[in-house]
This record gives sequence, structure tokens and C-alpha cells, in this order.
Amino acid sequence: MNIINVEDAREAARRRLPRIFFDYIDGGSFGEETLHANRADFARWTLVQRVLNDVSTRDLATRFLGADHPLPFMLGPVGFLGLYAGGGEIAAAKAAHAAGIPLCLSTFSIASLAKLRQATTGPLAFQLYVMSDRAIGDELLAQAREAGVDTLFLTVDTTITSVRERDVRNGFRSLTRISPGLGARLMTRPLWCFDMLRAGMPEVGAVAHRPEFGKGVLEQASHLSRRIDTRLSWRDVDALRARWPGRLVLKGILSPEDALTARAAGADAIVVSNHGGRQLDGTSSTIAALPGIVDATEGGIEVLFDGGIRRGADIVKALALGASGVLLGRAYVYGLAAAGEAGVARILAHLTEEVSLTLGLMGMRSIDELKARGRAALRPR
Ligand SMILES: Cc1cc2nc3c(=O)[nH]c(=O)nc-3n(C[C@H](O)[C@H](O)[C@H](O)COP(=O)(O)O)c2cc1C
Repeated sequence: MNIINVEDAREAARRRLPRIFFDYIDGGSFGEETLHANRADFARWTLVQRVLNDVSTRDLATRFLGADHPLPFMLGPVGFLGLYAGGGEIAAAKAAHAAGIPLCLSTFSIASLAKLRQATTGPLAFQLYVMSDRAIGDELLAQAREAGVDTLFLTVDTTITSVRERDVRNGFRSLTRISPGLGARLMTRPLWCFDMLRAGMPEVGAVAHRPEFGKGVLEQASHLSRRIDTRLSWRDVDALRARWPGRLVLKGILSPEDALTARAAGADAIVVSNHGGRQLDGTSSTIAALPGIVDATEGGIEVLFDGGIRRGADIVKALALGASGVLLGRAYVYGLAAAGEAGVARILAHLTEEVSLTLGLMGMRSIDELKARGRAALRPR
């Protein structure tokens, strides 16, 4: 299949993956209202077209998370990449690093941070879920330090997990082992099966050495999920801030009030995120929430963005509304599931071209110019 945009990659992923995994990636919680709003609300802003400004060269480099990056986006944390393509985390990291951008590894990953560090030398961030057993958290932080992680993303919108009805229907939610029925369904996707067999038995890399988590990714993930601390509060953010010397980012902020508290707690940045519409169904889209948060925080804390990004124009809109950089989620995961490292590379190349062309057609030559122009680059529809 000729993949020329994210939607093509989504379709290729749908054909290649067993349905249980495609639906896990693609779906949202309950009625999927917020999942759809994340996409639909980008259309509430139009791009201002300006002309005759010599756009023969365009520079997409910009600064976010304390570093200069050649592109205004990075790969956000997505669980179980190694189940969508053999060696998925390493494949995604290699594609990201070849493009010069960072990847944030999810706690729920097949490759451990150490494995990832061996495979690639580019910038790595780590996404942390706080566990009620603090010894596990200590161990995860130690792993992050050892791997040279400088930025920790604490996910704050998932202390309890919402219901994703596609997962309930497919039996993903309660999955701890592969039944004969599921095995038969998996075998309807032979290319994927072959890829998985070649990669070896998947495990959750961060806890694979702990026998109490059982064997294999399904059992380990189920144990790990049950240990996510549902009592997580701002006090834990204070405690983490005191212990983690690197950059601390709170991921999953959707209200100006929480953004201000994050700033007061000493977080370096927030990600305006609703977990890709997978948690509180009925809450606002991230693009609708972004301007209010940027206004309230008045530059006192860096604001990143994710949710629904499938086009270069979406990235341009988020940056114009005040995000310093954006995190890709499903966009790169569809590419990974469709064609491994090459699939991620293709998505990154497409988005790069789309951002560059969009910028030029708006009469601008750089991301920094876009950031300076800010909301004047957009009009409400
Ligand atoms: C399949 C899947 C798994 C995810 N796993 C995690 C995770 O382990 N940790 C986390 O902080 N966010 C996770 N997310 C949320 C993403 O980091 C991101 O917020 C979201 O995907 C952005 O929306 P988008 O996919 O529409 O771009 C996951 C998202 C998906 C689709």
C-alpha cells in the first residue's frame, strides 16, 4: 500500500494487526465523544493565508523541553509498541532519532530503557505511572537515571482507567493469557504473527525481572495496572519534584487551574492532553482547552500539546495557540503497525513536509516566526 498520509497508515495498520490490537490503539473511552472532538475541533480554527514573502526556504527547527530540535514534534509515550511490530519501541526510537527528535518511552513497554539505550544514542524521555508499591517507582526512576533520561513525563490523567468499549467487546480488558479462540483470531494476521514469533516472547521490560509480576506481557501488564496508585495527589508531585533532579513534565492537564498548580509545584512543563480521548469521555478536546491554559499560565510554565494530530496543519495550529512543541500519538503508531521503523519514518517525513508546506503557504519561513505570530496566524471559523 502506498502510504501518503496518516489515514493511509491507519488503514494499513487495520489490515495488518489483529483486530484486538488495532481497536486498542484506535479506540477511545465510552461513546468516544472526546476522541472525535480531538480531531473535529481543529477545524474550528482556520489558517491565515499570507503571500509574497519569499518562502523559498523554510526552517522547522525550534526549542522545546530545554533543547533545540530540528522539528517541532516528538514521539509521545504509547504502551506496548512491541506488540504492534516486532521490536516496536526500538524501531520507533530509531526512526525518531534518525529524524533528530526525542521519543518518550511508556512504563508499559516491551523494550526496557536499558535495551533502548543499547540500541540508540538519541534523546530519550520516560513516562512514569506512580505505583502504590513505592519500591517499584524507585526502581523505575533508577532505570531512567541509568539510561541517561533527562526528562520524566508523569502521567496524571490515568490513576483510574476508563472503559474502552471496543476493548471490552474484544476481551482485551481482561486478557491475561491467549485462549485457543484468541489464538485462532491472531492467526488470521500471518504477517503480524511471523513478526511476533521472530521478536520472541514479549514481556513488560521494566518489570520482567520481577517474578511476582508473572510471565509474559499480558500477565505482567495486568499486575502492573492493578498497582497504579489511585490515590495519586499533588503531594506526590511535590515528592517526585524533590527526588527527580531532571526535567519534570506533567502529562494530562486539561484545566487552567491544574496548570497553575503544576507551575506552583515546580513542574518544568505540562502536556495539555486528555490521553487521546481514552479517559474522561465528554471532556473538551485538547485544541479547545489549549488557549485558556496558555492564557492562564502567562508563560510561567512550558506548555506542550497532544491529541488528534494527524496533519501538519494540526501541528501548526497547536503551535500558533501557544504550544512549544507537540507529541505524536496514534499518528506514528499507525505507521509502526503498518511497516515498522520504515512506517514511522514515513509518517515523520510526511508530517515534516506537511508542516513545511503549510507554513510556506501561510507566508512564513520558520516555526519561530509562527510562534511569534501566534494566534494572529489563525482565525476562528
Ligand atoms: C494505544 C495507546 C497507548 C497509550 N499508552 C500510553 C501510556 O502508556 N502512557 C501515557 O502517558 N500515554 C499513553 N497514551 C496516550 C498518548 O501518550 C497520547 O496522549 C495520545 O495518544 C494522544 O492522542 P492521539 O493518539 O490522538 O495523537 C496511549 C495512547 C494510545 C493510543
